[in-house]
Amino acid sequence: MNIDGKARRTIWLEEGGRSIGVIDQTQLPYHFTTRSITGLDGAAEAISTMVVRGAPLIGVTGAYGLMLALQGDPSDGSLAAAFEQLNATRPTAVNLRWALERVRAKVAGLPPAERAEAAKAEAGAIAEEDVAMCASIGEHGLQVFQQLAAARPAERQGQPLNVLTHCNAGWLATVDWGTALAPIYKAHRAGLNIHVWVDETRPRNQGASLTAFELGREGVPHTVIVDNAGGHLMQHGQVDAVIVGTDRTTRTGDVCNKIGTYLKALAAHDNGVPFYVALPASTIDWTIGDGVAEIPIEARSSQEVTHIQGRISSGSAAGQLATVQLTPDGSAGFNPAFDVTPARLVSALITERGVAAASEEGLKGLYGDA
Ligand code: MRU
Repeated sequence: MNIDGKARRTIWLEEGGRSIGVIDQTQLPYHFTTRSITGLDGAAEAISTMVVRGAPLIGVTGAYGLMLALQGDPSDGSLAAAFEQLNATRPTAVNLRWALERVRAKVAGLPPAERAEAAKAEAGAIAEEDVAMCASIGEHGLQVFQQLAAARPAERQGQPLNVLTHCNAGWLATVDWGTALAPIYKAHRAGLNIHVWVDETRPRNQGASLTAFELGREGVPHTVIVDNAGGHLMQHGQVDAVIVGTDRTTRTGDVCNKIGTYLKALAAHDNGVPFYVALPASTIDWTIGDGVAEIPIEARSSQEVTHIQGRISSGSAAGQLATVQLTPDGSAGFNPAFDVTPARLVSALITERGVAAASEEGLKGLYGDA
C-alpha cells in the first residue's frame, strides 16, 4: 500500500535473510519508522510489545522468527524452544500457531544444516500467500459493497456508502491489503463513493492511530469516532454496514476480534445493519466449536487502560510523544484484549474463497476440500 506515494509492505527480509525489517507500529501515526529484527528474542519481543500486530502479520513474523532461531542453532532442541517462545507471545491470534506449525512441519525432518534455508522459504511462502488471500478478500468484499450500494433507496443513491470498522484490520495488520480494509481499498479504487467510520478502539487506539493513518494515506474519506458512538449512528441510519477482522474464527463461525467488537455486533443486529467479518483461511481454528468457552483471551497490562499515549500539541514539548495517566492513583484497571462475537450476530464471512454464512455448513462449503 502507499506511504508517500511509495508501495510498501509491513515485513521484508534484510541482509539476505539475516534480519527482518518491519514498520514500528508503536510509533504510528506520528513517526513512520522501521526496525531491523535480529534473532529469536527480537522477533518475540516485536510481537509481544506490538511493534508488529494484527493476526496475519503476527503469524508471518513468528514464521520468520523461527528462521532467525534456526540460523543461530538449527538443533531439534532449539526448534522446540523457539516454537514455544514465539507461540506464547500472543495467545489469541491462531495465525501464529498455524504459521509456526507450518514452518516446523517443513523443517523438522531435514538435516539441521538445511533447516534455516527451508524455514526462510516457507515463511516467504506464507507471506506471499497472505498478500494473495487479502487481495482476494478485497475482491469478494468489493462485490458485497457494490450490491449494498445498489440496493439503497433512490434518494440515497449518490450518497457515500457508510461503513464502520473497529480496530485495525488493514494492511498494517497483514503483509499487504488487510482483511476488513481490503474491500474498502478495492471499493475506493473502483470509484465507489465510500466513507468509513473509524472506531478509535481503546485502549490502544488502533483505529484512531493505525486505521486512520492507512485510510488517510490511501485517500479514503473517513471520520474517527469514540467507541461508544457506533450504536447511536446506527440508530440514525448513518451506518450501511459494519466490517471487522478476526484473530480466530471457530469452525462454527464464531469470531474473536478486538475488545468491543461484540458490542458493535449487538448494536448492528438491533438496528438491522449488516455485520461482516473478513478473514483468510489462516484465521480459522477447526479444532474449536464454541468461541466464548474455548478461545483463550489475552489479558494485557492494566497500564494500557489507566494511561494513554499521544503527541503533545503545544508548548515547548510540542511534537514529542508522551504517556499520560487517566485514572486516579490506586484505581485498578482490567484489560481483556479480545472478545467473541457469536456466529448468530454475523451476517456473513468474507474470505479469499468467497462469501459464506457464519456457520459450520458455510465454512465447509468453502473449505470442505482443505
Ligand atoms: O491487538 P491487535 O492490534 O493485534 O488486534 C488486531 C485485531 O483485532 C484485528 O482486527 C485482527 O487481528 C484481524 S487483522 C487482519
